[in-house]
Amino acid sequence: MIERQSFNVEIRRLWPSDMEGFRDHLMRLDPRSRRERFGGGMSDDFLVRYAENCFGQGDLLYGAFVDGHMCGAAELRSNKAIWSEQAPFDRHIHAEAAFSVENEYRRRGIGEKLFKRIQRAATNHGVETIEIICLPDNIGMQRLAQKFRTHFTFEENALTGRLTARRPTPYSLVREASGDMLDFGASLFDAQIRALTPTEEKSA
Ligand SMILES: CC(C)(COP(=O)(O)OP(=O)(O)OC[C@H]1O[C@@H](n2cnc3c(N)ncnc32)[C@H](O)[C@@H]1OP(=O)(O)O)[C@@H](O)C(=O)NCCC(=O)NCCS
Repeated sequence: MIERQSFNVEIRRLWPSDMEGFRDHLMRLDPRSRRERFGGGMSDDFLVRYAENCFGQGDLLYGAFVDGHMCGAAELRSNKAIWSEQAPFDRHIHAEAAFSVENEYRRRGIGEKLFKRIQRAATNHGVETIEIICLPDNIGMQRLAQKFRTHFTFEENALTGRLTARRPTPYSLVREASGDMLDFGASLFDAQIRALTPTEEKSA
C-alpha cells in the first residue's frame, strides 16, 4: 500500500516522444477502469491505436509521474487545432477532457492535480468549454468534477460535465509557454532513458 505522503507527483505535458509511455499507462488500466475511461472494455489493440492518434494539433496531453513512472494522464482533445499562439482571446474552442489514474495510485490527489492542469491548459490555449463524458455509475469522476463546480446534465447514456474555462492573462500565457518548453526537454530526456532501458525493466 502506497502512503499518501510517500511520493511526489510531477505533472508535465506529454509530447509525441511520450507516446509509448502513454500507451503503456493506458494498457495498465484494468477492465473496469478501461470501461470507465472509454465507456467500454477496450482491447489492447484499441489502446495502441488510440495512443498513436493522441498527439495531433487538437490535442493536449498531460502525464502524472511518480518516480519516473507515468501513473496517470489527462487529455484535452478537440477537433480544432489548439494553439496558444493563434489569438486565444478570439477562439471559442470546445474540447473534451478525460482522466485516468492507475488503481494503486488513486485517492491521493493525482486526479485533482491533473484536473487543475487541464483547466489551466484550457485557459491558456483558447479552449472555452470543456466537456467530460462519464458513465452514470462513475461516482469517482463525478465527485472529482464536482470539486471544480462542474454542472452535470444527462445526455443519452452519459453524464456530460461542462466547465467554462477562464480567460488567460499575460502572466498565465508566459507561464504556460515556459512550462511547455521545460516539459518538452523532460520528454526528450525521458525518451532517451527509455531507449537505453533494457526491455525486461521497462515492463516491470
Ligand atoms: C476518476 C479518477 C481519474 C480519479 O483519480 P484519483 O487520483 O483517484 O482522484 P483524486 O485522488 O484526486 O480524488 C479527488 C477527489 O475526487 C473524489 N473521488 C475520487 N475517486 C473517488 C471515488 N472512487 N469515490 C468517491 N469519490 C472519489 C473525492 O472527492 C476525492 O477527494 P478526497 O480523496 O479528498 O475525498 C480515477 O478514479 C480513474 O482513473 N478512474 C478510471 C478512469 C475514469 O473513470 N475516468 C473518467 C472518465 S474520462
